[in-house]
Amino acid sequence: IVHSRITGTGSYLPGAPVSNSELIAAHGLDSSDDWIAERTGIRARHLAGEGVAASDLALEACKRALEAAGRPANDVDLIIVATSTPDYVFPSAAALLQAKLGVTNGGAAFDLQAVCSGFVYALTVADKFIRSGSHKCALVVGAEVFSRILDWSDRGTCVLFGDGAGAVVLEASDKPGILATAMHADGSHHGILSVPGQVCGGKAVGDPFLRMDGQAVFKFAVKVLADVAHEVLAAANMTADQLDWLIPHQANVRILQSTAKRLHVPPEKCVVTVDRHGNTSAASIPLALDEVVRSGKVGAGDTVLLEGVGGGFTWGAALLKL
Ligand code: ACO
Repeated sequence: IVHSRITGTGSYLPGAPVSNSELIAAHGLDSSDDWIAERTGIRARHLAGEGVAASDLALEACKRALEAAGRPANDVDLIIVATSTPDYVFPSAAALLQAKLGVTNGGAAFDLQAVCSGFVYALTVADKFIRSGSHKCALVVGAEVFSRILDWSDRGTCVLFGDGAGAVVLEASDKPGILATAMHADGSHHGILSVPGQVCGGKAVGDPFLRMDGQAVFKFAVKVLADVAHEVLAAANMTADQLDWLIPHQANVRILQSTAKRLHVPPEKCVVTVDRHGNTSAASIPLALDEVVRSGKVGAGDTVLLEGVGGGFTWGAALLKL
């Protein structure tokens, strides 16, 4: 049986960290470091400079992931970039990334749009492609420049997000790897988190900024994150106490704590980066994974649960052995 396994991780954060106080001063926000830190756990985030696009961040993360996997770029026959902030309307950030990496083998490249669940969705899709035998070596990427879709006069949203990218190399293997995956959507909740605009006739039509009902998102996120974790654990015949690490999407430290508590996972097994990265949407899970892998905290043989929830609403999880 062919399995898929993560053989390398990489990530990239643009520029220096921007603290809450620096952000408040830069945009003249009626807010405070205490309010932001208490309600969200966020203390800093990274923001991409002008002209830096999702594929640029993705490129750096992918170079590091390929190096960790010991793979030349031309071995990659599938690139999936999870992003809601691609460089252009088209071509995809994945196609641009393929060119920047110098991949000339004609492999597949496409973007996947599931907002903050994007990385888990992309990993699920890549796992299925690899297990079908159609592809052998995938780059699965989450890359976002959410700073481009933030309304800097809306203190309820602009303090929450950051820019960055994370990537994994996922390869065909005779040893399991990805043990179980799940992905879900319920489009009836589209209104509680969205960027309800588009480019049309040379102009932005509708609203080009991120809008959110924070409390509705909070309640929805906590419920589905617990449900989907149980779903993939049951599919692999496992229980939460067998997990070495839980890496949820990094939206808010209170969502992370509630999720760990509902699953009876001790807080020290739950990876937290939101304090330093903010919410980087599709990039948050691979950024967190790479950070703990590189620090040596998480490594070969560990059982890890990745799970995300985001606009759509979408949610999903991937249970894996490193
Ligand atoms: N600084 C100071 N005050 C603020 C700020 C701010 N940055 N933002 C909002 N407030 C004010 C509001 O205006 C409101 O003032 P009012 O009472 O005078 O009207 C007050 O604080 C309370 O606002 P609420 O929205 O009720 O605050 P809440 O406790 O719900 O916290 C938050 C807001 C942090 C957004 C919370 O709802 C939350 O964490 N929700 C989850 C949303 C999330 O994480 N989204 C990420 C994207 S979704 C995803 O990734 C899954």
